[in-house]
This record gives sequence, structure tokens and C-alpha cells, in this order.
Amino acid sequence: MSNRRDEELGYSTERPRDKAVVVGVNLPMAWSGGMGGEADLPELARLVDTAGADVVGEVEQNRHRPVSSTFLGKGRLEDLQELVEQTDANLVVFDNDLSPAQGNNLEKVLEVNVIDRTELILDIFASHASTRQSRLQVELAQLQYMLPRLTRLWSHLERQAGGIGTRGPGETQLETDRRLVNKRITSVRSQLKDIVNSRQTQVRARKDVFTASLIGYTNAGKSTLMNGLTDANVYVKDQLFATLDATTRKVELDERRRFLLTDTVGFIRRLPHHLVESFKATLQEVQDADLMIHVVEASSEDPEHQIRSVNEVLRDIVPEDKATLLVFNKMDLVDEELFRNRYSRLYLDAIFISGKSQAGWDELQEAVVARMVGDERIVTVTIPIANLQCLSQFHRTQSVLEQTFEADICRATLRLKEKELNRLIKREGAVLAE
Ligand code: GTP
Repeated sequence: MSNRRDEELGYSTERPRDKAVVVGVNLPMAWSGGMGGEADLPELARLVDTAGADVVGEVEQNRHRPVSSTFLGKGRLEDLQELVEQTDANLVVFDNDLSPAQGNNLEKVLEVNVIDRTELILDIFASHASTRQSRLQVELAQLQYMLPRLTRLWSHLERQAGGIGTRGPGETQLETDRRLVNKRITSVRSQLKDIVNSRQTQVRARKDVFTASLIGYTNAGKSTLMNGLTDANVYVKDQLFATLDATTRKVELDERRRFLLTDTVGFIRRLPHHLVESFKATLQEVQDADLMIHVVEASSEDPEHQIRSVNEVLRDIVPEDKATLLVFNKMDLVDEELFRNRYSRLYLDAIFISGKSQAGWDELQEAVVARMVGDERIVTVTIPIANLQCLSQFHRTQSVLEQTFEADICRATLRLKEKELNRLIKREGAVLAE
């Protein structure tokens, strides 16, 4: 797999790409606590491509439930074996989650590496992590993914070996491995906590500024919008999960109309829950934002499916009534009239843009500003003269509509946001006048 750092430094990281066969088993939705559902082989193929392998074949099967030893039924497994031989594949990737025993059994039959979707996504995240925080977050997810597998892997080996005498060393080894993994998990968690603590100081410093956070399915065009609207130089590439870190920049339309914009990690259907857990710190930016800008790839096969998948991940992170602006991007790639007709009926406030041609950007900026000033109000407050300095920012933006002085207090009529008013009351001793 290619290394982004090396690519940026101009080193060639080329090595022959792996050849992969993708496999999906369609299961009834209700199977095993909602782990069922239709496989999505085109998406799996994109993930495989992002990870640095070529898809040379695919196998799909409908089943009521998986076969416990090999997931696939006997007939389809034989087909898969044949396909692997014919195509000279050296990797098989399952869209479904495999148990370690299933993985082992499949590898024995197929004689090539077998991984599942979660392992593939963890691998992509690992190769795209470029900051200390994202590297630690990925490592935490990998360790957590490994821990229960370690147990099952060892008990599987024990059962195979069997008998008195073989069990002892096995258990001791398992205990040692478990202890080591747990120790590392504790250490990674504590390092992440330190990073988060120092971040919080920055977040606190910008609490009074309106913040919008770009969210959306991976590859929807979030970083492109971020770069276009600000001077941030966020990595843009036609691959999944190009960005793993949160980046925040200022958007300044004029003195009065400015806000902070944050770009963050992309989402995907069935995002492994260890990853969502581990990336909570990065996703904290979304929680703290006043507005979420949900970017959807208009040209994707099923935009509504993307919207649903993102909302599913968000359900665990933000309250349901969080202010959201829906933006359909890549309109240059679809029949604009047809698309608008269909989706503007379904999503009344949606905005249609192209990050590439920049069509619709003004409308997007105006929509963000409208949300930002939406909670502005005009109020009269009294402020102790000693704290008069706090009005300077309102003077700068021509938001002081009237100002009079009475003994040791100042009476000011201001145009401000709820957040700003709260700060004046809490920190500057302002009192709402009748
Ligand atoms: P992740 O980092 O994976 O979450 O992706 P992202 O949502 O940040 O997407 P990004 O901005 O990296 O864009 C993905 C690809 O789509 C890039 O190749 C962009 O050049 C391309 N792209 C973005 N916007 C548009 C658009 O409006 N039209 C077209 N044709 N391509 C676009």
C-alpha cells in the first residue's frame, strides 16, 4: 500500500498492486442483531482500490444465515476457489465481518490472504493517518479489534492442540498477550487524553465564534469545499478517507460575517464501531459546531443511501435536532434539472453546488450566514463602566446601535447573538435593561 507521506516527499512508493477477489453474502436484515443486510460490492471495490489493490473478480451469494465454518456455502466456496486460481488473485476481501476461525478456515481452503471489510477499513485508516492524534486513534481501534480475536484465536488453537500439557502454555501465552495489548490500550488512551486536553483550550478560546462543521460520506467533496471557502490546504484526492484529521479555518466574508469552518473525517455505511469510538475526539468538532454542513455526492449511485448512512453514524454523536444544512455537491456530474426537480422536493432547504466549477458557492455562503445571523437579536443592556472595553468588538462591527452613560454604568443597545449576550452577562456583569 502506498504511503502518503512518501508520496508527498516525492519518493516512489510503487510496488505491484495486490489482486483481490471481493465477496459478499446478502443476509436477511434481522440476522444477528442487525449485522445482516445486502452486500455492497461496488463500494467494497472502491475501498479495495483505495487500499492499493485491483479487483479481479467478485462472488455474491444470498443466504438465510452464514455457514459457521466458512461463511460461504460449499458450492460458492468452490466457485471462489476456482476464481482465485483463474485470476491469480493473492487476496480475498469479504464485505461481511468474519470470525477469526472463519478467516483461518477460508485461508486454508483458498491458500491466499483473507480479510474482512473492517480489517480493510482499519488498514486504509492506518495508511492515511498522518498526525500523532489520528495515528493513535487508529492504533486504539486496531488494538480493540484485536483483543477479542486474540482470545478466540488462542482458544481455537487450544482446542486444536487439545490435551493436558498443551493447555497450560497456551493460556499463559494468551494471558501475556492480553496483558500487553491492554497495557498498550491504556497507554494510547492516556496519550489521546493529553492531546484532547490541550485541544480543549483552543476550543474554549473560540467559543464565541460561530462554527460550521463539514460532514458527509467519504469522497463527497468536503475538503474541496474547505479549500475553496478558506485558504486551508486540506489534502484532496479521489480516494476514500483521504482526510482523517479535523482542520479548522476562518471564513471571512466581511467584518460582520465571519465564521469558523471545520473539515473532518468522512463517514461510510457500517463504519466499524471501534473506529467511531476512537475518532470521538476528532468528531468532537462536529458536536461543538453550531451548524453541520452535510455534503452529499449528487453523482453517487444512491445519494439518499449516503444521507441515511451518515445520519446513522451521527445518531451516536450529536442530538437529533442539531442545525443542519444539506448540500448536494458534484452537480456538474449529473443532469442538473432532473436532479434538482427530484431532490428539492424531498429536501426543501437543500443547496446544489459544484465544488469543481464553484457554481452555487455564493448561495452556500449566504445560507451559512443566514443560519449564523438567524439567532441575532437587538437588546439593551447596562454594563459597568469599568468593563466598557468589552463593547469594542461591537463597535468594530457597527453593532452598537445606541449608547448612553449614567453615573458608573453604560446603557447600550446592541445587535448580537445569543452566545455573545450570554458572555456579556456571565463575564462582564451586563444586565438586560427593561
Ligand atoms: P474524504 O477525505 O474521503 O472524506 O473525502 P472528501 O469528502 O473530503 O472529498 P474531497 O474533497 O477529497 O474530494 C473527493 C474527490 O472528488 C476529489 O477528486 C475532488 O477533486 C472531487 N470533487 C470534489 N468536488 C467536486 C465537484 O463538484 N465535481 C467534481 N466533478 N469532482 C469533485
